Amino acid sequence: MELFYCHFFLLSVLELCQFGSILSYPAECVLPFPRSYVVYHLGEQETIDIDGKLDDKAWALVSWTEDFIDIQGTDWKKPRFRTHAKMRWDDKYLYIGAFLQETDVWANQTKHDSVVYLDNDFEVFMDPDGDTHWYKEFEINAINTTWDLELNKPYLNGGTPNNSWEMPSMKSAIYVSGPVDDPSVKDKFWSVELALPFSDLVDHSPTASAPPRNKDQWRINFSRVEWHVRDVRGHYEKIPNVPEDNWVWSSQDAINMHLPERWGFIQFSTDAVNKSEFVRTPNWPVYSGLVMLYDAEKKFMAVNGYFTANLTQLEIPASLRTGQCPYEPAVQVEKTYNFGATVKPLDQRLPVGHIRDDRLIWFSDTKRHLEI
Ligand SMILES: *[C@@H]1O[C@H](CO)[C@@H](O)[C@H](O)[C@H]1NC(C)=O
Ligand SMILES: *[C@@H]1O[C@H](CO)[C@@H](O)[C@H](O)[C@H]1NC(C)=O
Ligand SMILES: *[C@@H]1O[C@H](CO)[C@@H](O)[C@H](O)[C@H]1NC(C)=O
Ligand SMILES: *[C@@H]1O[C@H](CO)[C@@H](O)[C@H](O)[C@H]1NC(C)=O
Ligand SMILES: *[C@@H]1O[C@H](CO)[C@@H](O)[C@H](O)[C@H]1NC(C)=O
Ligand SMILES: *[C@@H]1O[C@H](CO)[C@@H](O)[C@H](O)[C@H]1NC(C)=O
Repeated sequence: MELFYCHFFLLSVLELCQFGSILSYPAECVLPFPRSYVVYHLGEQETIDIDGKLDDKAWALVSWTEDFIDIQGTDWKKPRFRTHAKMRWDDKYLYIGAFLQETDVWANQTKHDSVVYLDNDFEVFMDPDGDTHWYKEFEINAINTTWDLELNKPYLNGGTPNNSWEMPSMKSAIYVSGPVDDPSVKDKFWSVELALPFSDLVDHSPTASAPPRNKDQWRINFSRVEWHVRDVRGHYEKIPNVPEDNWVWSSQDAINMHLPERWGFIQFSTDAVNKSEFVRTPNWPVYSGLVMLYDAEKKFMAVNGYFTANLTQLEIPASLRTGQCPYEPAVQVEKTYNFGATVKPLDQRLPVGHIRDDRLIWFSDTKRHLEI
């Protein structure tokens, strides 16, 4: 952890190098760190009334996430409406409050578990144990229609969504600053208020705790789908042949939310609001190595029709091959169509990372507090 601090944050010298010397390595050894947010536990007197209005004192105390950006990355056009969110937690729920600036609020889907993203929506993706499998997805539109589902693995890995997965004690509400589906009146925004039960969120995540412990970290991402509409005789209709916009908290650099390895991090805290620092996992370099090997193997397979254990054949940064990274990468190929990659940290206090061709990620020491 301290090595990691040394390298990534030039904080105070004291904090810096209590343990050993500064380890330096090429920047290409690590992927950019995703967005992060500290979620503060509600105080004893604090409550959140799920009515769609983010007017509870418990919300006023905590900061917003960064504004959402286009899913294709920061170089892409800035979204035309602002979106940001806040989070809190108690022993039962993860609370999410989201603000969606909007001049034209409309919604058509009315049935629970219908395809909500056919409307403008707000979406939450959660992978409590950070292994990229068995993650949860939640969508809601401006008339409180919800869709909750669980995916055994990402679609790209042959995953199947389970729509029967439910969060029976979930609470949700929407507030709209104006009418819904009335083009004659311009709205200002809609807001989403959610209470998602931990007991359901940790389904199939045996190493994640419900409720979380202080300092636990989960992978999470938010996204907003926004269609282009026009006024047709007093109602909104989609403009034909114009694709929807996708705005996210932390950019995916691809139009695909189903890349859990790129989601943001939330860190649960029982400290007083604003009293915790987000701590980057010391496993991030190893995690980065795993993801780079995985992506390179998939690319190699697409061209050659098989996986390779020969790192020279892979499109990976040169430093991974030349031993300049703070870890040793290796790939084992089984029967041409399966591979497993192992990334061993040079710092032997850290666990060894593994990734499989189905994207499953795990660390040899899975009882650790931080899963990744
Ligand atoms: C915490 O930090 C945020 C962002 O700077 C600020 O808006 C908020 O008022 C702070 N809360 C407290 C309780 O200090
Ligand atoms: C889908 O989820 C439900 C509820 O958790 C569960 O009972 C069912 O077995 C799951 N179906 C599959 C195919 O996993
Ligand atoms: C919104 O949906 C929730 C279920 O998530 C339900 O409990 C609540 O009553 C709904 N609110 C309104 C205003 O329909
Ligand atoms: C909503 O549904 C109505 C009725 O099917 C349809 O005419 C309209 O185009 C839909 N609105 C949008 C924005 O898709
Ligand atoms: C969500 O994805 C973006 C893209 O990775 C990623 O950078 C961001 O870290 C992920 N988080 C979320 C929320 O979007
Ligand atoms: C690995 O691949 C490189 C480039 O194709 C090749 O030159 C080298 O001989 C291969 N090494 C082994 C052990 O097969």
